[in-house]
Amino acid sequence: MDPVSPESVSPESVPPDLAGHPDRLRWNAKYGDAPGLSPVHPLARRALAEGLPDGGVLDLASGPSGSALLAAAAGRAVTAVDVSEVALGRLGAEARRRGLDRLITLVQADLGGWRPSPPGYALVLCTGFWDRAVFGRAAGAVLPGGLLAWEAFTEDARRDRPHLPAEWCLGPGEPASLLPSAHTVLQQADTPATGKRALLARRSA
Ligand SMILES: C[S@@+](CC[C@H](N)C(=O)[O-])C[C@H]1O[C@@H](n2cnc3c(N)ncnc32)[C@H](O)[C@@H]1O
Repeated sequence: MDPVSPESVSPESVPPDLAGHPDRLRWNAKYGDAPGLSPVHPLARRALAEGLPDGGVLDLASGPSGSALLAAAAGRAVTAVDVSEVALGRLGAEARRRGLDRLITLVQADLGGWRPSPPGYALVLCTGFWDRAVFGRAAGAVLPGGLLAWEAFTEDARRDRPHLPAEWCLGPGEPASLLPSAHTVLQQADTPATGKRALLARRSA
């Protein structure tokens, strides 16, 4: 669960507690079948263009994140957390290729057990992952004046994807309804074509 340098993310460095982790095995296989980076997420692009306080960016369930690379290219220190060393290794390799590796810290961890470190982050980003407890910790990790940006499937997505577990889906009004009072919703919008909902919220300064 310790941060690792981009050079050291490899199958040999997998933390012992993740060796048989089903999410790790599943996502490593998926990424193995689909080379390339995840494109910059529009929510990340918007968040980075909004005013942000000084501070780093936390990208949760980052995958091989184009958004993390965009944030680093904008001069932000980025911490990318993911259970898959295939994803992190790919992100680290691309960061190195772009000369951004000194700005990106890769953390291989199960978000169920991982805790953000103080003092927090100017932007906490998470797209393509949902867990209420992780969301609560993420909201608490936003610096005063900073942003929380999240996107996940809604329950509607299960109509087209019946295999999608209910616990991976946002309930009505979530995630805005779960925000602590210090956060103001700037946007919460559904995209019916994808079955996803995006939230952008600012923590009061
Ligand atoms: C749908 S992908 C989203 C990747 C990226 N954020 C994006 O928007 O393209 C979900 C990501 O969550 C990661 N993930 C799944 N379960 C996880 C867990 N328990 N802890 C940490 N990461 C996890 C996967 O490895 C994968 O990279």
